[in-house]
Amino acid sequence: MKLDSFNKVLDFAKTHKKVASKIIEIKSVNSKSLLDVGGGSGVLVHYLEDKFEDITILEPSDEMTNHITNPTNISIINSTIQDFSSELKYDTIVCFDSLHHFANGYENGFEEVKKGLLKMIEHANNEVIIIEPRINSFKGFSIKVQENWILRIGSYFMSIKEYEQVLEGYNYSIEKFREFYVIIIKKK
Ligand SMILES: C[S@@+](CC[C@H](N)C(=O)[O-])C[C@H]1O[C@@H](n2cnc3c(N)ncnc32)[C@H](O)[C@@H]1O
Repeated sequence: MKLDSFNKVLDFAKTHKKVASKIIEIKSVNSKSLLDVGGGSGVLVHYLEDKFEDITILEPSDEMTNHITNPTNISIINSTIQDFSSELKYDTIVCFDSLHHFANGYENGFEEVKKGLLKMIEHANNEVIIIEPRINSFKGFSIKVQENWILRIGSYFMSIKEYEQVLEGYNYSIEKFREFYVIIIKKK
């Protein structure tokens, strides 16, 4: 897919490209289908397109998905992860810079993020790869300030302790990558 001018601006720092390289490094070699949860305007899948046979973006905002200009092998589902009621499973599920947004508009942010996280695990065949800002990095903290103190949209950033609590019993790892945490949950 080609990037429109909105996406070219979003892609300016090439962060999505670096994140895509990390995902390619992590994903199982036999993964053929990809679900990008909170995939926004599709910049990340732009860099993953040739690595998967089937790509689906789950994204509640059609204002965002309208920027996906020529989606040849890309399916779009306009829904939140909490409302996603399909039986479908995907080999690899990615969620970049979106997990904390699952809380937006809800009273109990932790519960919504937990619900979304468990739902992603339920729908994955091979792995779920979550990339979230580290709020103890400068860039990560700026995101928290902007979303929760300036825009007041009520994002919820899980602590490492909370990930450990929610993911108890799963095969998972948490590592640092630039200004992000990468949380990998392996199903096999
Ligand atoms: C910061 S944007 C990141 C978009 C994209 N992953 C990227 O990096 O370009 C966060 C996205 O999460 C989406 N989002 C918010 N709540 C969501 C939910 N409950 N389920 C799925 N996506 C959600 C928003 O609509 C938004 O597009």
